Amino acid sequence: MSFDILLKGGVLPDGTRADIGITGDRIAAIAPGIEAEAGETINVAGNLVSPPFVDPHFHMDATLSYGLPRINASGTLLEGIGLWGELKPLLTHEAVKSRALAYCDWAASMGLLAIRTHVDVCDDRLLAVEALIEVRQEISHYIDLQLVAFPQDGLYRSPKALENTIRALDLGVDVVGGIPHFERTMADGRASVTELCEMAARRGLMVDMHCDETDDPLSRHIEQLAYETQRLGLQGRVAGSHLTSMHSMDNYYVSKLLPLMAEAEVAAIPNPLINITLQGRHDTYPKRRGMTRVPEMLSHGIRVGFGQDCVLDPWYSLGTADMLDVAFMGLHVAQMTSPAAMRRCYDMVTTESAAIMGLEGYGLEVGKRADLVVLDAGDPVEAIRLRATRLLVMARGRVIARLERSPMRLAIPGREGEIDRRFTVPARE
Ligand code: FE2
Repeated sequence: MSFDILLKGGVLPDGTRADIGITGDRIAAIAPGIEAEAGETINVAGNLVSPPFVDPHFHMDATLSYGLPRINASGTLLEGIGLWGELKPLLTHEAVKSRALAYCDWAASMGLLAIRTHVDVCDDRLLAVEALIEVRQEISHYIDLQLVAFPQDGLYRSPKALENTIRALDLGVDVVGGIPHFERTMADGRASVTELCEMAARRGLMVDMHCDETDDPLSRHIEQLAYETQRLGLQGRVAGSHLTSMHSMDNYYVSKLLPLMAEAEVAAIPNPLINITLQGRHDTYPKRRGMTRVPEMLSHGIRVGFGQDCVLDPWYSLGTADMLDVAFMGLHVAQMTSPAAMRRCYDMVTTESAAIMGLEGYGLEVGKRADLVVLDAGDPVEAIRLRATRLLVMARGRVIARLERSPMRLAIPGREGEIDRRFTVPARE
């Protein structure tokens, strides 16, 4: 047996050590101690070899636009939407595309090889839709980009949003989006959920709505989303993004809501970096955190994937395409500190988000696509703790990014040497 590439001595996310043989764009073998010819043999001994990171919620049409035409002074969601409204008429096809491609370079270097991005369809020119469709094609050999038709200014509240949503889907956008809490009334919000889910059912598409991204405990569009999912037979194909109102909802109501979501197999996509900064802005103290109820959803069997939402745009002034930042923040805000819960946070930026996106060929298994990332960490929890350096990124069997490990040297008298922040935990679970 021979391989194109043989990775030797890596640690898989479940803690087992194994070599991985790659042939063409596929994983051909995973086993300890593979002795075989290979075009290239790469020593990854002791380093975590993981399936790539997956971001199930992003806004690629806005990314890297921070400061254009000004920054968000209040830091609120609503000023961000207003600021985006100022920027939209100034966008050009070329600018959107070049910023998106620049971001995809960052993503590739971070081992982030699948992204679901919402794309605003409220600009009648639909230039961001067209630009991102081109980007989706141009990066398809290393990143899976999924586009969501997103009526940012409201399906009914924005004059042509409904028509533009249909146009965007006709152009080849993959997923139906929505923003029910931003419609003029609760009734309009509810109707928008129904109309958009019916549209998805007719077209055989998935649904991913910005849903209840507010601190208003009475914003309950997730209930309608679960209902329509059940009614239209869309189980397993629908996600509610943000769901921040659930943080503030009445506990008894949530005890009814979570089983409804579980029954309908509606997934949840919290965005911890954004939700911890945008929510609770109208509060004095105590100040709500605004992230949805992640551990409670998990205990009800609801699938949860963490998203990044924004990098350097009208809503968020930081970000590096690092899904480990997202897992780190999510872990803290959700207080998921047990070994098993920390491990789950890693799954939520890899396998769980891949399942939400319905990615085919994803995962470290024989026969799956040879997409992976090697991290300077001994296990997934350590990867989160260190926001570990990416040592190697492989897409479709090709190494697309590589970094030689080069530890910093301490020059403190009597303490000279290489600094290594890795730490062996005797028994993680
Ligand atoms: Fe979003």
